Amino acid sequence: MFNFNYYTPTKIIFGRETENQVGELIKEFGGKRVLIHYGGKSAIRSGLLARVKKILDDVGIFHVEVGGVVPNPQLGKVREGVASGNLNQIDFILAVGGGSVIDSAKAIAYALAEPNKDVWELYQHTRQANACLPVGVILTISAAGSEMSRSSVITNEDTKEKRSYGSDMARPKFAIMNPELTMTLPDYQTASGCTDIMMHTMERYFTNGGNMELTDAVAEGLLKTVIKNAEILRDDPKNYKARAEVMWASSLAHNGLTGCGSDGGDFATHMLEHEVGGMFNVTHGAGLAAIWSSWARYVYKNCLPRFVKFAVNVMEVSPGKNDEETALKGISAMEDFYRRIGMPTNFKELGIEPTEEQISEMAGKCVAAVGGKIGSAKVLYEDDMVQVYRAAAGL
Ligand code: NZQ
Ligand code: ZN
Repeated sequence: MFNFNYYTPTKIIFGRETENQVGELIKEFGGKRVLIHYGGKSAIRSGLLARVKKILDDVGIFHVEVGGVVPNPQLGKVREGVASGNLNQIDFILAVGGGSVIDSAKAIAYALAEPNKDVWELYQHTRQANACLPVGVILTISAAGSEMSRSSVITNEDTKEKRSYGSDMARPKFAIMNPELTMTLPDYQTASGCTDIMMHTMERYFTNGGNMELTDAVAEGLLKTVIKNAEILRDDPKNYKARAEVMWASSLAHNGLTGCGSDGGDFATHMLEHEVGGMFNVTHGAGLAAIWSSWARYVYKNCLPRFVKFAVNVMEVSPGKNDEETALKGISAMEDFYRRIGMPTNFKELGIEPTEEQISEMAGKCVAAVGGKIGSAKVLYEDDMVQVYRAAAGL
């Protein structure tokens, strides 16, 4: 077991109609001039945006809005939000949406707090943030876990680089989580979200260093809960209880809880996916599913005890003749689950066919982004990344 810090300052307001508390919550955290940030059309179609604006009007909070954040949020939209924020002397950002909107809100919050510096430098890791405006969240999709996490991921649409930056300063002040708000999600987004939630915990689970019994039990319980409820939602998308289980899992999977005591986790699948997202603009969770099994088959022998534990405790397979067979049964069972919820298990099923040149480019960018190597289950270098991408591409 390693020493660890566990810091989760985000106030969670969970349940039906909780969005009605947004005005009081913004006041509680000192917001007087609010930028409401949202995505495409879903928050307009559902009436949520109009309700939020009325609530802020009723409690007398000044607000402006910047919408149009796309999945895999772009730097250009961040700059638009910053311009509006400066013009309107904004002191609080309210994100109404999912990971893309929240991440864009965090980037705007960094930029407004240090107006003379270029925010992209943070994502290039050429400097650290010294300040960040407060961010609040009304969550509309259970997936990225950004509502409690320290990280944000932004794509520079000019260079096609998708890059992350993390700081505790950007953890949202509050997150309103009403499971009913996720009932309008397309099935593909629900399934992609469940995949991402599980991956955030699996990245912390498949390690070769430091594990705690309690952390493992929480992780395994979370994974089994998401598997069960993802299948319920496939057949019954308006099931409130299943929506609630998955929503709470999204936050706990990525707020640090399921990594306490570990060596920091593996995160290779995520880093490999970010390059795919940057180049092909795929849905993040689906991109993870398309890479995971190729990664797992590439690394499992180097992390055998964890793959065996996963196979038996999470996927509930009967043990094979030896540990390797048990581990492989667990990987196959995971692939079967992905297929059952409509997720891809390779690039072709994801709808992309990267060439050898594109694979080399993604591996080159990935290795640069992670500083030469990534992983705990098995440390991956550039050649290993090429092999995982090639396996996912069926090459
Ligand atoms: O834009 P709108 O119209 O709102 O549509 C969105 C979008 O098309 C739709 N949607 C959201 N809520 C809805 C809804 N449609 C109907 N009803 C609702 N209630 O869903 C689509 C996906 O939204 P998005 O915000 O992109 O989803 P997600 O939460 O999966 O976020 C993905 C982004 O988060 C990053 C990913 O890389 C990706 O860019 N991540 C952020 C992390 C973090 N900050 O901690 C960690 C993750 O690993 C991840 O990398
Ligand atoms: Zn993720």
